[in-house]
Amino acid sequence: MCGIVGYVGYREACPILLKGLKRLEYRGYDSAGVAVINKDGNLNVYKCKGKVSSLEEFLDGKDYSGNIGIAHTRWATHGEPSDRNAHPHYSQSGQIALIHNGIIENFRVLKDALIQNGYQFKSSTDSEVLVNLIEYIRKENDCCLSEAVRLALKQAVGAYAIAVIEKGNPDQIIAARQSSPMVIGIGEGEYFLSSDAASIIDYTNDFAYLNDGEIAIINKNKPLEIKTLENETSNLDIRHLELSISQLEKGGYPHFMLKEIHEQPNTIIDCIRGRINPDTAEVKLSGVELNKDKFLQAGRIIFVACGTSWHASLIGEHLIENLCRIPVEVEYASEFRYRNPIIRSNDVVIAVSQSGETADTLAAVELARKAGAFVYGICNAVGSSIARATDSGTYIHVGPEIGVASTKAFTGQVTVMAMIALAIAKEKGTISTERRQAIAKSLLELPQTIKKVLETDKMVADLSKIFTYAHNFIYLGRGYNYPTALEGALKLKEISYIHAEGYPAAEMKHGPIALIDAEMPTVVIAVPDHTYEKTVSNMEEIKARGGKIIAVIAQGDSHARKSADYTIEIPTTDECLMPVIVSIPLQLMAYYIAVYKGRNVDQPRNLAKSVTVE
Ligand code: F6R
Repeated sequence: MCGIVGYVGYREACPILLKGLKRLEYRGYDSAGVAVINKDGNLNVYKCKGKVSSLEEFLDGKDYSGNIGIAHTRWATHGEPSDRNAHPHYSQSGQIALIHNGIIENFRVLKDALIQNGYQFKSSTDSEVLVNLIEYIRKENDCCLSEAVRLALKQAVGAYAIAVIEKGNPDQIIAARQSSPMVIGIGEGEYFLSSDAASIIDYTNDFAYLNDGEIAIINKNKPLEIKTLENETSNLDIRHLELSISQLEKGGYPHFMLKEIHEQPNTIIDCIRGRINPDTAEVKLSGVELNKDKFLQAGRIIFVACGTSWHASLIGEHLIENLCRIPVEVEYASEFRYRNPIIRSNDVVIAVSQSGETADTLAAVELARKAGAFVYGICNAVGSSIARATDSGTYIHVGPEIGVASTKAFTGQVTVMAMIALAIAKEKGTISTERRQAIAKSLLELPQTIKKVLETDKMVADLSKIFTYAHNFIYLGRGYNYPTALEGALKLKEISYIHAEGYPAAEMKHGPIALIDAEMPTVVIAVPDHTYEKTVSNMEEIKARGGKIIAVIAQGDSHARKSADYTIEIPTTDECLMPVIVSIPLQLMAYYIAVYKGRNVDQPRNLAKSVTVE
């Protein structure tokens, strides 16, 4: 979703801004722009529809010099993707430029008031209203820029991360946030600003995170100042992050998605590092250990999440109910936040989010906290809003995920959930030590098992060619692998734009079987578990109706092979960890079908990596 980059210091701003925008491209966007103040004090704004590369072409031959600037990639919410709706927006007098992520919900009221005061608007955006409101307040109150921003934001309702610069003020950027990420990179006599620390990691490892309702006054060569909307001084929340540039690059793969699929043996090593003792096979998670009582007394665990993280949560439900015997509910964060849910003080709410910035999940966290529940986070992005808003949590530590389709985050989330379930099960004594240690050993072996399953890459690529022209797919699985089927279907639809639906295999008879014919391939997950035989019977029912079956089965399983047209044979692990293994060939299949269809795999249409608005 929209991305922000800013710079003030002694270097040329534009190259830093463009490089930062490119690092944010994975978030998804439809237009891009920059505003810079040059040495003569002119505020130059350049913006256009399309990619950052189109912006670079547009800048060719123009004056984009200057040591201060702000830049933006826009993902349309108000007004179509176009040059005029692209950011930065500048005020009527041309004195102030602003970039904005989020939505100003009351922009119509504010706009009408500004029109009555003689303002005219060039775009259809809510953001242009904000920049003019800042200018209007600045003139009316004869106040400084930061005060005008503060007073304007006090009138604004909604979500935002903004950065503002002003002609005649070439050493200062004002930034603010409310429910949308914003981080300030601290250098020597210079500052960098971004919606994601990864985009400015080349320049610094020290970052100040803005909290909701805070405004940063960023002056070159001066200490950073943070205020609240109530005009009180805030403490700086500075963190040191270790992220390497190689983690952000494609490393020889044609797409980030393929790189991230193949990274999974290593990301799972990072995810379990220091958390399972290889000698004793005991799990040690400080988040669970420090909050043992909350988990032991939990009447219920409620997962809140969206998309792929919601699918991982469904697997978490199986893990925790099976291993810890605590009732679990899994909620779409977007539904949970608006349906007046019953939340009790002995509920543990687990928010699952790769980015840690998903607006609905963040709102669900806030709701749960207000209701008195203990809120635990499972996030990937360190220092993200959800990670900071939760009472405690466990990072999945799989490194930055750049491809829009989530892959390594999903397997990291399931792995963390398995460790959480084992840690709670130990405290509760709900499973035997032998069973606990057997699962922990399988977790330790998971990276090797993933390496083996990745050997199917070439075979899955060939198989995918056969199905590239299908218009619809059904994915079936049961138990732990019903959510894996949902996730397989989601991967396929989001990057190949092929319609795909996931079902519990036994549900076939209750409707979807009517869809089966030779044109409708069915992907069946038929790996050894307690419903295996029933799933094989479901395959027979599909075959009997002329359907084509691609079955994901255990290596050497000749029984299931007989009921399938094509098989992907994979190594096995403990039943409760099989979703990690099964999901990988499904990720590969979605990837190759999308590549054969010529889709933009890393940045599929209409999708954003980090959904920071509702
Ligand atoms: C799908 C995908 C999305 C995200 C969802 C939640 O591949 O990536 O469905 O899982 O938008 O995002 P996070 O996990 O960042 O909260």
